[in-house]
Parts: sequence; C-alpha cells; structure tokens
Amino acid sequence: MARQTDFLVIGSGVAGMWFALRAADHGRVTMITKAEPQESNSRYAQGGIAAVWSDEDNFDNHVQDTLTAGAGLCRRDAVEQTVREGPARVRDLIDVGTRFTRRLDDPDVYDLHREGGHSHRRILHAEDFTGQEIVRALHEACVEHDNITLLDHHMAVDLVTARWLARRRGQIPPEDDVVIGAYVLDQRGGPGSVQTYVARCTVLATGGAGKVYQFTTNPKIATGDGIAMAWRAGARIANMEFVQFHPTCLYHDKEHSFLVSEALRGEGGRLLLPNGHRFMPDIDERAELAPRDIVARAIDEQLKRHGLDCALLDMTHLSKAEVEHKFPNIHARLLTLGIDMTTGPIPVVPAAHYMCGGVQTTLQGESSIRNLFVVGEASCTGLHGANRLASNSLLEAVVFAQHAAEQCVARLSDVPMPEGLPEWDSGTAVDSDERVVIKQTWKEIRAFMWNYVGIVRTHRRLQRALRRIRLVKDEVNTYYWDFQMTGDLVELRNLVNVADMIIKCSLKRRESRGLHCTMDFPKTDPRFVADTVIQRWL
Ligand code: FAD
Ligand code: SIN
Repeated sequence: MARQTDFLVIGSGVAGMWFALRAADHGRVTMITKAEPQESNSRYAQGGIAAVWSDEDNFDNHVQDTLTAGAGLCRRDAVEQTVREGPARVRDLIDVGTRFTRRLDDPDVYDLHREGGHSHRRILHAEDFTGQEIVRALHEACVEHDNITLLDHHMAVDLVTARWLARRRGQIPPEDDVVIGAYVLDQRGGPGSVQTYVARCTVLATGGAGKVYQFTTNPKIATGDGIAMAWRAGARIANMEFVQFHPTCLYHDKEHSFLVSEALRGEGGRLLLPNGHRFMPDIDERAELAPRDIVARAIDEQLKRHGLDCALLDMTHLSKAEVEHKFPNIHARLLTLGIDMTTGPIPVVPAAHYMCGGVQTTLQGESSIRNLFVVGEASCTGLHGANRLASNSLLEAVVFAQHAAEQCVARLSDVPMPEGLPEWDSGTAVDSDERVVIKQTWKEIRAFMWNYVGIVRTHRRLQRALRRIRLVKDEVNTYYWDFQMTGDLVELRNLVNVADMIIKCSLKRRESRGLHCTMDFPKTDPRFVADTVIQRWL
C-alpha cells in the first residue's frame, strides 16, 4: 500500500528542514533522509550565512558582490529576492534557536566575518561550525513538531510522474507532466526493500554532488541524487559545468574532506609556497580575498608548475587567544592531526565544494515539472550564476525553501491526493555477489572527473571523459536492473547521471566564464551569456 502525505520532503539539510517547518502548520509532512537525520552538507558549513546586517553595509552592495561573482549569469530577480529577504530569514533562524556568535568586545552585537568576494563584513557565524549549530536548532524544532514525520535511512530512488505512469499503463502520456510521489528504499529493510510514497507536493532538498570528484569537502551523502532523479523524470537542468572548487581543503593523509574555512583568509590568512613566497598578490589585487575560483585556480597552477602536493595557509599573525576565539573547532581538529595553526602553516589543496548548477526553478522553487519543488544546493535558482559568492548558499536554502513552502501551502487544497500508484516491481533482480563492481566503478568515475573535468579543462579531456562515462553508464544500467537495489548502487547510478550532465554542459560552453575554465576557449564570450540547459527528452 502506498503511503500518503501532503508534503513529501526528500532530504533533511537546512533547505529540507526549513521547508518542513514552514509547511507543517498546514499539512502533514513526511521528511525522508538517506543517512542520520543531521548528516548533510549543511552540517559541515563553517564560515556562515551572508546577510546585510550592519549599518556600514546595504542591499546594493550585497547584490553587486553576488552579481560580480556570478560573472554575468545571475538572474537579477533571484539575487534581489535572496539579498533583500536575507536579514528576515536570519532573524527567523535566531528565533528558531540558532545561536550566532557575538562580538567579544560587545556581546549585544553579532560578530560579522568577511570572506572572498564580499566588499563588506556580512557573514553571521556560530564560531567556525555554523552549519552544525543551524542544523541542531532546526532538527530540534522539526522533532518537536507533531505534523512532521522524519524517517532516516530512507533513500529516494526515483520520482513518479503522471507521464511515467501513463506510459506504464499503455495510455497516452499527458502534455503537462506532474510529480505524484517517489519510490523510497528503506535501507534498514535490506536490499530491494522499496516503498511507495504519494504526495500532493514533492520537494527535492537532496543537496550537492561533491562526491563525483576524487577530492571534495563534501560528506558521503553528496551524490547528486535529487538532480539525477529530476533529470530522469524529465525536468530542466541547468549550468552543471559550474562546479565550485574550494581553494583550501586540508591536505592530510588521514583526513581527506576537512574544510579550512575561507573565513581564515578573511582574517588575514596568507597563502604561501613552501619557500615562503606569497603568490596571490602577483595574481589578483584582492590577493587571498579574490573570489574563490581565482584563488583555487591560482593554487592549482602553483602546484602543477612547482610539482607540489599542497600550498600553505599561514595564520601565525593571529595570537593564540584570537585563534581560539575565532576558530576554536578548526584549531582543535587540526591539533588532533598534529597541526598547530598558531605556530605553523596549514597544508591546503583545492577540492570540489559546491554545485552551482542543478534543477532549474522559478523564484518559488518550482521545477519545470508541476508539483516538483527543488530547494537548496540541488536547485539552480539563478542566484549563483557562473560562480557562487561565499556563504550565499545557506541563505539561498532558507529564502527559497520559504517561498516554496508558501507556494505549496497556497496550492494544497487544489491538489487531490494522487491514487493508484503501483508498488515497486523488482522483476527478476537477484542479490549481487559482485559488489566490487560498484566500488571499482565509483572510484573510476571520481578519478576521471578529477583529472579530465576538474579545475582547468580542455575540450580533448572532456571528450575523453564523455567516452568513459558512456561505457560506465551502460555497465551500471545493466547492473542496476539485474541486481537487487542497495543504497550504494542507487548512489552510483545517480553519480553516473550527474557526471554525464557535468561533462555535457562543459562541452556546450565554448568559453571560460566564472567556474568553467577551459584552455581551448580561454576568454569570456558575450555569445554565451545564457544558462546551459539540458533535458532528458530534448
Ligand atoms: P544538504 O545540507 O546537503 O542536505 C541534503 C540532504 O538530503 C541530506 O540530509 C542527505 O542525506 C539527503 N539526501 C540526499 N540524497 C537523498 C536521497 N536519495 N534520499 C533521501 N535523502 C537524501 N555554505 C554557506 O552558505 N556557508 C558556509 O559556511 C558553507 N560552508 C560549507 C562547508 C562545507 C564543508 C561544505 C561541504 C559546504 C559548505 N557550504 C556553505 C555549502 C552549504 O553547506 C550547502 O550548499 C547547503 O548547506 C546545502 O543545503 P541543502 O539543504 O540543500 O543540502
Ligand atoms: C567556508 O567557510 O570557507 C565555506 C563558505 C562557503 O562555502 O560558502
């Protein structure tokens, strides 16, 4: 029997939980999440959330900084909406219980950090583990709400649409497609334990896709599931070539995904080569505070030119007391790894960090398929354009989740509960005795994406990646239908779709702009001032 709910929210990061809290006073919310309830990219956010907060700043400044970073591809209305609603959403977060850090010299005032690309101090933060604090507060509020059911270790596998259903029944598919639910793998139920959910409104809040690359700041959950599901359902996907690489991920043999926040450079951190040379002023007048695409490319170039494993981030200009006040968690974590940032430099490398592309949405977060809303990192709202300004994504998550919730609530009484969804049919699939295939393929994709579709690209390398992903796609598809479904197989299938989309969008953009840098077309070309849109059925 299909399980019914008014709002099906897939993902429990900041975007999913914000949507759930805003919708729950108006209907039943079922929020499913594939790992532990608080595990998400959101949880690892360090620097903070950007909002105009001080008298020295104003909306125009924040709008302009966002547009400049976005390199000509931001949607101005999305930027205006996000920036202007920023302070109100931050106040909401405080009301829900988020404890942002206050100034040492004036505890009545919130402390504001500055990060690359920001002309003013406007980053509210909770020490240096902002995400953990916001997620804690939102999770507590969700658990307390009677109308929210949170199901962990439940992984959405595929969306169910009216068109798909009609085809399956041998009927003529409707012109205007609509999402009516999803198939969900209960990971505690063993391989092949798939349940059916129907909903009046379905929300993808599944986050980013950093795991498509060998080196990333993202946790294990970031496999682009929502973007891949929406793609398979036929939604419009945009700008997948714009993958943001964070300049400073810790370089350490025991810790591969630990971010060293941009806020450190905001507090005067200097990037050095092992010989002590500070290279950023040679490259950009904003030096270490240039937008992160410029800094990441600069580090990448230095590493390649000098054959180095890592660059160094020096924070020794700060006193021990300052470090302990501003960056207590990063400092403590580094100490456990034998690095004392108060006395010596931190080894850093660039790593995949954020997906600027995703499922294309309206300002209300609706995708090109009716009743499918997409919020947070899985969406492409037009805010980030070709490059995201630091700390704008937590803000985007709450602003757009708020709009999406308002839109869904307003529509609720007009949408009947869908009926007649068939149960999942696993056909002749059997248990796999070759799980090694999944592990090997996963590794292969991540390696060629890093080497061929990384920070600096060429047309030839992209073509090479395209040939490989075609082969892998065939293999994974065969494997997917032959064997019982498991979580890692579902993720691998999604990773393949996402890698394919990144490669295809990269090949379409025959210029360098924002995060997409190709040696064959090194200049920005005005003929390409448009989103790269792809859709399965086109
Ligand atoms: P997430 O927080 O990633 O949540 C996704 C959720 O979906 C998770 O619960 C996941 O388990 C679930 N999920 C995924 N697939 C499925 C599926 N198939 N079925 C069910 N559930 C699923 N941004 C800032 O603005 N400021 C910062 O300081 C900052 N620092 C960052 C530091 C790090 C290390 C990282 C990785 C990112 C940082 N970002 C920062 C980016 C920001 O954290 C994310 O973009 C944002 O939190 C994304 O929120 P989200 O709710 O869209 O996705
Ligand atoms: C950081 O703290 O450097 C990450 C900020 C962001 O990704 O927005």
